[in-house]
Amino acid sequence: MAISIGKGLKLLWLICIIGVITLTFIYLILGERFDSLYFQFLAVLTLGYLPYTLTYRFFSTNTQQYLLFINMSIVTLAISVMLPLSHSNQVIVIFLPLLAILFNHRAIFLLSGIFSLCIYIFMDLIGGIHQSSLYEMMLELSLLVVYLLLLRNVLKLLVKQSKINFLFEKTVNTLIMAVEVKDDYTQGHSVRVSDYTMIIGTYMKNKGYEVDLESLRISSILHDIGKIKIPVDILTKEGKLTAEEFNVIKKHSKDGADLAQELEYPKDIVDSILYHHERFDGKGYPSGLKGDEIPLKSKIIALADTFDALTSNRPYRNAFTADKAYEIIVENMNTQFDPSFEDIFNAVFHDFVKYQTSKKDVHVVKDFKLKNIN
Ligand SMILES: [Fe+2]
Repeated sequence: MAISIGKGLKLLWLICIIGVITLTFIYLILGERFDSLYFQFLAVLTLGYLPYTLTYRFFSTNTQQYLLFINMSIVTLAISVMLPLSHSNQVIVIFLPLLAILFNHRAIFLLSGIFSLCIYIFMDLIGGIHQSSLYEMMLELSLLVVYLLLLRNVLKLLVKQSKINFLFEKTVNTLIMAVEVKDDYTQGHSVRVSDYTMIIGTYMKNKGYEVDLESLRISSILHDIGKIKIPVDILTKEGKLTAEEFNVIKKHSKDGADLAQELEYPKDIVDSILYHHERFDGKGYPSGLKGDEIPLKSKIIALADTFDALTSNRPYRNAFTADKAYEIIVENMNTQFDPSFEDIFNAVFHDFVKYQTSKKDVHVVKDFKLKNIN
């Protein structure tokens, strides 16, 4: 779904190899002799990014950016070590644009590129640190241009990814708004539930559970998205719902999962949405799953969802206090909730209360990042 820098790296390698082949021809045409240094450059440029390429898919785009920076720094360092001492000051020339990549901004990158070229010319022609022959200068300048082209491509992908993340955030906000605008009482519910799941997920992760926080965040934010199909009069009905009306409400988890599938979200996110109203004792919906048949993320969402519902005003009752909500949830361990969550809930309850008092008015999704989902 998301663009990854790693996929773009294949193109970057191609640019590198084309650059190196071009230089080989320049050398051949100009009748220069190859030395081992040239082949070392070739090896570093073509093999140097292997660590990044082999591991990028396991990280979010944001982490990929830093991983790529570290990998490129190592490659740059390797190249600078290979250069004779008289050239060592030129490391700054290749390092500056690399540093600019971290800013994820075209103008900064362009300025760093121009600055690097100026430094190169200054050092080589005016500075007198190293007086290159015409061939050496052509080789170095060509390498620098290939290198800048390579980095420019990475930057293009990063900027594109930022834009996609921005649009994704907007789309998610709009979808949530479309659901919550129908019912004043659920304003901010999705974001709060998502924040509660992050508190639980982070705690569990620190305790050694395998929890994919990014996927949990997306699932929890979208958990009630299926309510978009529920008529307003049923959603906001103050009295008791008829069996028929309740059946309409119950369809929202399946409708939400269908929508997520339509949007090509990964299966674990679709399933987390689908089963967020399942109960540990098998009396939930839509499938009546019980115990460990229920996905872990759905169990986390169910707990967070219930806590927020209990501590929010409803048309038919006022909000319960956090302590009362705690009591109700603990009473329902082993029936509605997985009993193994009792210790977890005990441990995070204090953070729930802290969050509840400080961020009650959160309504929009912020800093939403898409994971590299292939
Ligand atoms: Fe729900």
